[in-house]
Amino acid sequence: MLLVYDELCARYTLERVIGAGGEGVVFHAVPTSSHRAGSGEHPIALKMDSAGAAQYVGKQEAGETRFDTKGLYFKTGGYTYGSIKGGDIPDVMWHQYRRIGGFPGKLFPEVYEFASAGPHAWYTMEELPGTDMRRALVDGPRRHFRQWAAVLHELVEQLWQLNRNSGPWYWHGDIKPENIIILDGAPVRLVDPAIEPNCDGAHVGMTFTVQYNPLGEERGRADVVAITVLLIELLLGENPYRDLKFPLRACYCSSWITAKMTEQQRLEALRERLSLPRIIPALPKRSRSILERWLCGSSIGYHDMLRDWDAVMRAV
Ligand SMILES: Nc1ncnc2c1ncn2[C@@H]1O[C@H](COP(=O)(O)OP(=O)(O)O)[C@@H](O)[C@H]1O
Ligand SMILES: [Mg+2]
Repeated sequence: MLLVYDELCARYTLERVIGAGGEGVVFHAVPTSSHRAGSGEHPIALKMDSAGAAQYVGKQEAGETRFDTKGLYFKTGGYTYGSIKGGDIPDVMWHQYRRIGGFPGKLFPEVYEFASAGPHAWYTMEELPGTDMRRALVDGPRRHFRQWAAVLHELVEQLWQLNRNSGPWYWHGDIKPENIIILDGAPVRLVDPAIEPNCDGAHVGMTFTVQYNPLGEERGRADVVAITVLLIELLLGENPYRDLKFPLRACYCSSWITAKMTEQQRLEALRERLSLPRIIPALPKRSRSILERWLCGSSIGYHDMLRDWDAVMRAV
């Protein structure tokens, strides 16, 4: 960890915790005067693995306390399912850093530096203005369902725009309120993408959140399902799959899901376990059947969501 601490202290002063999730802690960091000369003046966001961050905070406390450590224990609440072990964390963060940097446009923050030593790692990125959607749902001004739906529509639109000219398939893979950053009047932004399933054949698993991906879908399908679940959550006032512990179709071997479901099996799983008529009986049949298709149709993508969006909204 020495390298990480030394590099960190030489470059940044960590002033406060912006947020924390299942894997990392994100700090508001100010470049030190020596670092400022080379890389600009602006404060940035610095994400460090949780264990590394706890050690870092301990080290700071032993000397002078520089920031409020209470923030460290602020958890936005997520239910991540994956196969990542402690030692894999730097790999995971490296792949995440690379993926964020690989997105064109402004959907993700710009990323700058990455460092790792032993089981710990950190990377720096643009600090996004605004707040994550979970915090906005809990603490923010009340927004009507249609205002939230407009935020999600914009997100699907941005993902579709990124993917419309064939080329690489840009997807997030772990969409949930904690990873969506909003600011009134500004474009919606994303943080914390899932890494590629089966990266480099190494034993790095992909994490995702069962409550927003109950069938354990991959890539763009995971996003379509997560946005659908989020719409249902906004309609219901709670996540319909909050009690789920494992993805319904997952078969985790050394790396990634190997079991694939046929369309028929998906439909059966959906009917048995994800039953929309049971979850939202009051929803008009027309929008329920579209939401059901978004949840379980194997070939449904961002474009299908955009096409049928208005039909769902008219019926809710
Ligand atoms: N670049 C950023 N700018 C502003 N806030 C951020 C940024 N990155 C993360 N956050 C905040 O920090 C929280 C945790 O970061 P995240 O990358 O999602 O960590 P984890 O992998 O542990 O879930 C997010 O939910 C969000 O509130
Ligand atoms: Mg997160």
